[in-house]
Amino acid sequence: VIEAAVVTDWRRGHRQPGLTELAVCRQLRQLAALVPADQEIVELGAYAGRSTGWLLLGAQDGHGAHVTSVDPWDLRTDGYDRYSARYALAGKLYREHMVRIGASDRTLATRQGKATEVAADWYGPVGLLWHDAEHSAVAVARDLRAWLPHMAARSTIVLHDVALTRLGVLDGARQVLDAADWDWPGLVTLTWAKRPGLRGAAVIRRRG
Ligand SMILES: C[S@@+](CC[C@H](N)C(=O)[O-])C[C@H]1O[C@@H](n2cnc3c(N)ncnc32)[C@H](O)[C@@H]1O
Repeated sequence: VIEAAVVTDWRRGHRQPGLTELAVCRQLRQLAALVPADQEIVELGAYAGRSTGWLLLGAQDGHGAHVTSVDPWDLRTDGYDRYSARYALAGKLYREHMVRIGASDRTLATRQGKATEVAADWYGPVGLLWHDAEHSAVAVARDLRAWLPHMAARSTIVLHDVALTRLGVLDGARQVLDAADWDWPGLVTLTWAKRPGLRGAAVIRRRG
């Protein structure tokens, strides 16, 4: 059982270290609750597991869909770890948080690797894909191209860090999700109230 009081405790010094803002965490919880039990919830970019906890909680609220979380951790090659020593600790913090919140093999699979590597040997429909991995148009397009064949006929993709448009997250997504069944007119964008020019997420649905 996922410990909701631990996952949702947002008090300074209590919340899990991470880079996903509260509004997006709440949205992930709601979307995860909608995923049918026979479809997977996939997270690309876990860092220390903050968003992972909210996805697990949402799955528990809803139909009990299984969660797979993907991150290369110390095998990452995107270069961000050069900017902060904290990145080196992320894998350890992730594992500790998963134990603390009550994740089990029944609810969660953790794959240490890149988004594309895990997609290559994936089997089964994905109902919700949360992309918070490498943020550039090229990287987002590459990761989505790898996962697109696994997306269920009716499914949802959430992309993080869309507010800083020079990163090109939405540009990368448009290159891959160009079919009419991806509901671009219905795109929902969440902005970070504290700093509207940073972070932010976009929710795009496949109508099936
Ligand atoms: C912004 S952080 C994720 C934050 C996390 N979702 C949270 O709630 O705090 C980005 C993560 O993406 C991971 N990453 C980098 N390249 C990746 C790739 N090719 N595939 C999957 N994850 C990747 C990094 O190791 C890093 O932990």
